[in-house]
Amino acid sequence: MAATPMIAAIRGTHDILPGDVEKWQYVERVARESCERYGYVEIRTPIIEREELFAKGTGESTDIVQKEMYAFTDKGGERVTLRPEATPSMVRAYIAHNLEHAMPAAKLYAMGPMFRYERPQKGRYRQFHQLDVEVFGMENPAVDAEVIDLAWTLVTQLGIAQAELVINSVGCPACRPVFQAALLAALGDNLGRLCGDCQRRSATNPLRIYDCKVPADQPIIDGLPHSVDYLCEPCATHFVGVKTHLDAIGIAWRQSHRLVRGLDYYVRTTFEVLGQALGAQNALLGGGRYDGLVKQLGGGDRAGIGFAAGLERLVLALPESAPVAPPAPAFVVAIGDEGRAAAWLLVRELRQAGLAAQMELEAKGVRAQMKRADRLATRVTLIVGGDELARGEVTLRDMATGEQRAIARESVVTAVRDLL
Ligand code: HAM
Repeated sequence: MAATPMIAAIRGTHDILPGDVEKWQYVERVARESCERYGYVEIRTPIIEREELFAKGTGESTDIVQKEMYAFTDKGGERVTLRPEATPSMVRAYIAHNLEHAMPAAKLYAMGPMFRYERPQKGRYRQFHQLDVEVFGMENPAVDAEVIDLAWTLVTQLGIAQAELVINSVGCPACRPVFQAALLAALGDNLGRLCGDCQRRSATNPLRIYDCKVPADQPIIDGLPHSVDYLCEPCATHFVGVKTHLDAIGIAWRQSHRLVRGLDYYVRTTFEVLGQALGAQNALLGGGRYDGLVKQLGGGDRAGIGFAAGLERLVLALPESAPVAPPAPAFVVAIGDEGRAAAWLLVRELRQAGLAAQMELEAKGVRAQMKRADRLATRVTLIVGGDELARGEVTLRDMATGEQRAIARESVVTAVRDLL
């Protein structure tokens, strides 16, 4: 009879297996600790939302909304989608739960899967994971700098070398129209020579032309004006403020006029941290200010700024030396049936005391048990046999030094804790 065919995972999705999952846990742990040190609290929002939230929030002119959403009609006839990003959900939750009153300066973070129907390649997946960080209700440029500081500190704390911080300012509803008009004027007759996407962008959101990756378009795009040269006075002052704060804490930045970011809600500051060794998908994280989005989604006139880091990309960029391995457990070796019964109790006692401990549950010889202890790279092995038990003792072997000694049964927990 033919074997039943296996059901493959969906393209662009991944199982995270033991061996890799430790790297994920490490990145998640450092991310949480960093956020909490900077005063952020965790929030968890649903993975499924109304499609409209992203059409309005992320923006109709973005690739995400135009081409990449996992949107469908549910059994109740409602248009819903798997979330492609977290920012609109965070804003929705902030408004829905009146967090603007409960937490006037709300600093929130979330972690979880996002979904975009993109062409998968290294660092780009259809289900991927983000750490998302958002601050509501604060306009001072020091806030932009603190958010960027958190992003930068996270990357450096993970030991990711050769990362680069890129910043820009895309202006606000007061100065952006002037810039867009200048952009279209500079394009002039060249517009017809740009790719179809750019022609569409010129009508919906001309800024988006800077997202274009088509090689033939680049010489034309290189000659276009820069948003920073068209900033109104308040936006220009704000941008200087952000850079001054970054300089004061010694975080190096490079300004790039091309950093317009692929989402519609940004005003003023935009930023990304780029990594090496990631190939074409080199943005470890990206974000910016989005004053106006809370109001646009039905809330009060509240400022907002944040960023999201791709966890897959952080894991890919981790150095070999990252301390990802969990501590090896103690291993209890049993000699004979009497030893097995005693070892069973000892393993549980160690675990109850908060220590990682293992034993071989199948009846196996001492040599096979020792082999398993070796494979686990255990730091300490306890040998439990009839003779020692009769004396109220257990043999403790320090696997690093090979040294072996008898210890009193009651002092096992303390002795193991000292070694692990
Ligand atoms: P984003 O630039 O679309 O911004 O995504 C942020 C990060 O998520 C990227 O820099 C990248 O590391 C990761 N990422 C995005 N798409 C994929 C993918 N298909 N596969 C793997 N990783 C990916 C946002 O999502 C905004 N919500 C960020 C933000 C928060 N702005 C303000 N607050």
